Amino acid sequence: MATIYYTGSSLDGFLATPDHDLSWLVTRDIDPAGPMHYEGFVQGVGALVMGASTYQWLLDHLPETGGEWPYRQPTWVLTHRDFPAPSGAVCFAQGSVVEVHRAAREAAGGQHVWVVGGGDLAGQFADAGLLDEIWVQFAPVALGEGHPLLPRRTELELLEVARNRDFVCARYAVATGGGG
Ligand SMILES: NC(=O)c1ccc[n+]([C@@H]2O[C@H](COP(=O)([O-])OP(=O)(O)OC[C@H]3O[C@@H](n4cnc5c(N)ncnc54)[C@H](OP(=O)(O)O)[C@@H]3O)[C@@H](O)[C@H]2O)c1
Repeated sequence: MATIYYTGSSLDGFLATPDHDLSWLVTRDIDPAGPMHYEGFVQGVGALVMGASTYQWLLDHLPETGGEWPYRQPTWVLTHRDFPAPSGAVCFAQGSVVEVHRAAREAAGGQHVWVVGGGDLAGQFADAGLLDEIWVQFAPVALGEGHPLLPRRTELELLEVARNRDFVCARYAVATGGGG
């Protein structure tokens, strides 16, 4: 079991445009059965952790999933805001990621903890030595500005690289990892 930051990115390292648009990402061609694809990844995930903007994006897009919260796994949202919880599986926390990680790891029952994003939250896990791997699918576009993939100096080891149709997929170990 590992703690993994798994995400799509523009070539120039942005997760979303400044106004949180992801159309540049979700419209690309990807093979659902191909390397490092979401479907295969998420089957091994036992718990999720995300920041407030990522959660807000998911809330805003609930109509696209028929109003249903899209994850069966327990999910922690790091925030100072008051949010609705569309599912009993969502809980809220703030401050240090250490306690959140401990709880998520326990809830994951031997499966991976997925750090969904954003980039600073992934950086908080890396800073605490709790991030094991980063998996990125790079879309063939540069955005020029937006929400950054990882706004920290972070030493990585390239473990794997593959093409999945429109995407360059890369898997890295975080040099200071050890989240288990
Ligand atoms: N390309 C992809 O595959 C992908 C993946 C993930 C996300 N995204 C998108 O990328 C964007 C990311 O937005 P973002 O950069 O703003 O990151 P974010 O992590 O989603 O949200 C950041 C906010 O989370 C809260 N937060 C973070 N750490 C916290 C902590 N330790 N304690 C309490 N609150 C904490 C803070 O908000 P408050 O203090 O206001 O609560 C902070 O401003 C979103 O649009 C998202 O939809 C894209």
